[in-house]
Amino acid sequence: MEGLTGFPFRRVHAHFFGAADSYYLPFITPTTLPRFTDRQMRELAPDINLGIRVVPQLLTRRTEDFLWAARALADLGYDEVNLNLGCPAGTVVAKGKDSGFLREPAELQHFLDKIFNADLPIAISLKTRLGWSDENEFDLLADVYNHYPQMKSLTIHPRVRSDFYKGDVRENVFRQYFHCLKMPVGYNGDVITVGDIEKVRSQYAPLAHIMVGRALMADPALFRKAKGGAPATLEEIQTYYDALLESYCVAFGNVKNALMRMKEYWFFQHNLFENAERAVKAIYKAKSMDDYLNATRFIYENCKLKTESHFGWKKELL
Ligand SMILES: Cc1cc2nc3c(=O)[nH]c(=O)nc-3n(C[C@H](O)[C@H](O)[C@H](O)COP(=O)(O)O)c2cc1C
Repeated sequence: MEGLTGFPFRRVHAHFFGAADSYYLPFITPTTLPRFTDRQMRELAPDINLGIRVVPQLLTRRTEDFLWAARALADLGYDEVNLNLGCPAGTVVAKGKDSGFLREPAELQHFLDKIFNADLPIAISLKTRLGWSDENEFDLLADVYNHYPQMKSLTIHPRVRSDFYKGDVRENVFRQYFHCLKMPVGYNGDVITVGDIEKVRSQYAPLAHIMVGRALMADPALFRKAKGGAPATLEEIQTYYDALLESYCVAFGNVKNALMRMKEYWFFQHNLFENAERAVKAIYKAKSMDDYLNATRFIYENCKLKTESHFGWKKELL
């Protein structure tokens, strides 16, 4: 997730809560210059990701750019590259990239033909939505994807682009197509608790994976619990958050930016505490390290830590 699952998060999360089976990197847009920028290399350099499995993700609709970047990733030692077709952000879809590509199935197929027939030394996986504005669009998209059963996996976020992240996931469509797809299929969307993970697992088999975004920001012990481990203790959460803050202070060389980043985590994280909706506002308003530490201390001391997060970031479809 852009801004949230960068290298400071991955390293600190893996250290304190055990590594996820795979971390998908925030998307990278390859430029026409066939080399990664220094900024991109800060996420991609193999020594940054030592000891954890990482899958880089590309966002592009230019075949040539995908191809050079995929080869460069293989040279860096990666065994999988993910193509993002799920991001709804206006800035990317305006250029026909990402979920904007879903509006043009023929163009998308042409692009996929080229990348799957390029004999790349790296496996390709895709992440998609159901379509642009109508879930029935997935009928055609599923046909397009089925031309490439060799893809490593297809992760489906069962919403259309115009849903953004609002409303309920359209799980009925996922269910309808799950067995019609010829490649390993993964599920993503609104999985918050271990119960949700178990429900998805029990309903869809064989499932390639469950990808979790925001709920892992809220509850860093989610995957540990799903593997039979313990929920996070208050001491763990405090130590984890201190380490994350310190990592961002080092990475940014700047307290103000590090605090801004921590506020993004707290938007999700406060959902792991009882009645923290008001108290978290003091974190959002914090202007200095002292303000921030006082506001977090208030939550640690006054709001009870829960064993499961609630879905406090849910937005209704208007
Ligand atoms: C701030 C933010 C940044 C995101 N960045 C990415 C990204 O770089 N690549 C990607 O595939 N999805 C990205 N997503 C989407 C998530 O990966 C995920 O598909 C979405 O949040 C729904 O899953 P969840 O309910 O488990 O969070 C982002 C989502 C958010 C909220």
